[in-house]
Amino acid sequence: MTIDIIVGTQWGDEGKGKITDLLAKEKDLVVRYQGGNNAGHTVVVGEDVFKLHLIPSGILFPETICVIGNGVVVDPEVLLSEIEALQARGIKVTPANLKISSSAHIILPEHKERDKQQEESRAEGQKIGTTGRGIGPAYVDKINRSGLRMEAFLRPEANSKRLGSLTALASRIAPYFIDSIEYINEAVRQKKNILLEGAQGTMLDVDHGTYPFVTSSNPTAGGACTGSGIGPTKIDKVLGVVKAYTTRVGEGPFPTELNDATGELLRQQGKEFGTTTGRPRRCGWFDAVVVRHAVMVNSITDLVITKLDVLDDLDSIKLCTAYELNGKKITHLPGDLELLKGCKPIYEDVPGWKAPTTNIKKYKDLPAKAKSYLKKLEKAVGVKITIISTGARRSETIKVK
Ligand code: IMP
Repeated sequence: MTIDIIVGTQWGDEGKGKITDLLAKEKDLVVRYQGGNNAGHTVVVGEDVFKLHLIPSGILFPETICVIGNGVVVDPEVLLSEIEALQARGIKVTPANLKISSSAHIILPEHKERDKQQEESRAEGQKIGTTGRGIGPAYVDKINRSGLRMEAFLRPEANSKRLGSLTALASRIAPYFIDSIEYINEAVRQKKNILLEGAQGTMLDVDHGTYPFVTSSNPTAGGACTGSGIGPTKIDKVLGVVKAYTTRVGEGPFPTELNDATGELLRQQGKEFGTTTGRPRRCGWFDAVVVRHAVMVNSITDLVITKLDVLDDLDSIKLCTAYELNGKKITHLPGDLELLKGCKPIYEDVPGWKAPTTNIKKYKDLPAKAKSYLKKLEKAVGVKITIISTGARRSETIKVK
């Protein structure tokens, strides 16, 4: 039995969907533990591309049970349309393999309205660049103890005033409900293999990210425990998914951002456009200060590198190992955003390998310079790399022995 957590180590979009799908085959349970349909997890199987926003990325394996945990905020309309879209493509999605926590909070139409209004009313420089999906206001109501949980659909008449037009969805959505805390912990008692799937990333965490330019939940490993109901002593591994470079959507500081032709090249090569909003992602070099911070706050045990192939054509690559702040070198991420804004990256130059990596199956067959980049990255972060992804497909993956 193993209970593993998948977390993003940067600002989201690290490729957690592909990695969850890759590992899901051997899992009994895949549990999404926070966020909502602000996430966009892309899974590519052969020529088929699946973009999942709410349903866990284990859904393509009919034997794997997917759970939307208590920590998630659920837009019922999006959920039903995602279920139907998958079913229309021949994917099994039934109450037997998709289960929704009746304790998860509902994103109500009023939350989406508030999200948009708040974003519009924020002054320039203070805009967050939210996805507009109602995520923040739904979590505000949860913490304020004025939210509505999915269980409201079990008593639609009593809750029709707040549910509004959503009331009509009750009979379609209720069959998926479970008491997720009991269900998940029964699986723990039965020593099942469980994967806890995070959305967004450490730097978007409301406690550990670049506040206030963050999302309203805890994508970090602690959030996996509260958002699923499994206590920390049961966790075996925390897999940190890290892109071979860095991206960010929305506003907020980003020390290694490239506003030049190289940034544009990363955007084009890496197809760095938001899965949920289509916005172009900001791109930059790998930042080991950020990933070390993620290693620390998540207790990451393994690194999973994604999108290595995006760097294949570069003559040389930069790797940020520390920052310069007021003339001094610092190796940790400052907690104060004003200080972070003043940080300048200190780079190590690494020669590019100028060769395709996508179809390489074994670590030893990677170009020597690619291995050298990975070694430097591993050393700068201080955690071993166990999986390397060199393309969107399942087969485009190297397991490091
Ligand atoms: P919200 O989660 O919609 O409130 O947006 C807050 C911030 O998190 C914005 O900068 C979004 O662009 C960012 N964000 C939210 N979800 C994701 C994601 O799945 N990937 C990357 N960025 C995200």
